[in-house]
Amino acid sequence: MSVPVTRAGTQPVSVSVTGAGVRREAIGRYTTLGVGGEAEVWTVTDHAQLAEAMSAPYRILGGGSNLVVADEGLTERVIRLAGQFASTDLTPDPERSGPEHGDPDGLVTGWVGGGVPLPGLLRKLQRLGYSNLEGTVGIPAQLGGAIWMNAGTRFGETFDGLHSLEIVSPEGTRVVTPDDLNWSYRDSGIPRNHIVTRARLRLRRSTPDAVQERMDAADTARKGQPKNRTPGCAFKNPTLPDGARAPAGRLIDEAGLKGSRAGNAMIAPEHANFIVNLGGATAADVHALLNLIRERVGVPMELEYELWP
Ligand code: FAD
Ligand code: EPU
Repeated sequence: MSVPVTRAGTQPVSVSVTGAGVRREAIGRYTTLGVGGEAEVWTVTDHAQLAEAMSAPYRILGGGSNLVVADEGLTERVIRLAGQFASTDLTPDPERSGPEHGDPDGLVTGWVGGGVPLPGLLRKLQRLGYSNLEGTVGIPAQLGGAIWMNAGTRFGETFDGLHSLEIVSPEGTRVVTPDDLNWSYRDSGIPRNHIVTRARLRLRRSTPDAVQERMDAADTARKGQPKNRTPGCAFKNPTLPDGARAPAGRLIDEAGLKGSRAGNAMIAPEHANFIVNLGGATAADVHALLNLIRERVGVPMELEYELWP
């Protein structure tokens, strides 16, 4: 469906026939870590453009807040959601909300695009006094990426506020509910590269002040996190043999690794489960620190960062 063309001095760039924007760009600029080489970026605004973008090997980019992208760049296309995938309809859906649905304070919204930035969405929900998602405050994701990871804090997770979601893959489009997915801590159960294009939120009527109060509590728990460029926590908190979850940050700290550096990447002195870019770090620097942590911490830990490729 798309034709590769070559411009002088550059790698081939495809031309979209459905109108998707296609450019070769450094992916680091789309990530919170700020690291990563070039790839072909497809910015899609509707389902026809998305279908064309998915016709060759691809990766789906959200807010780039959990990514370490290879210095050499990527051979796959990188798809960005825009247009109708970045629109927000928070109007309660009369067919799914209200006392006749068994919960007078409960409501289900219209569709919210997977490409909608979560922080702005949470500000809107707070102003409306709609509760259930405020525990995710401070997560710099897009809604689709937050759903895919089931991002959360100990004050709540993304699946607390989901009614249903639309998922698109090369096999087609389906609408599912959380009950259809095998979701858990930091995991939605959605297969990789199945794209969350939009979701209906399952919320509860509260007041702006009460929602703000819970956001403030969740924000306070972040005060010890570093302010530098970072993809957030490097490792999931591991489950110990007794079934309890141990903070990965404490384990890395106890291994004496705070402040360790590789090139311009550093294990944050503020919180040992964060790797920060001091300016000019490379993906190789970050990989070196991840390997150091794996070697020195005695407990097997699962990576939370996504390494591309
Ligand atoms: P990306 O980083 O762009 O991508 C991550 C993965 O999601 C990739 O596999 C990507 O393909 C997939 N993806 C993205 N969009 C979609 C989509 N529409 N459909 C399907 N798959 C998609 N995480 C927490 O859980 N809790 C926290 O408290 C937290 N705090 C953070 C604080 C900071 C300062 C930073 C930088 C990160 C933090 N994170 C936290 C990590 C990160 O924000 C989450 O993992 C988040 O879910 C990533 O979402 P994203 O949209 O940025 O996705
Ligand atoms: N700790 C240390 N040393 C450190 C870091 C932490 O001893 O260097 C100790 C703290 O003193 C505390 C415990 O470890 O007793 C837990 O630390 P914290 O309260 O910071 O919580 P966390 O488990 O490290 C989790 C999430 C964060 C989320 C916060 C706040 C994971 C892997 N991390 O951190 O999520 O923001 O709670 O709710 O679940 C992320 O997933 O990217 C992320 C940032």
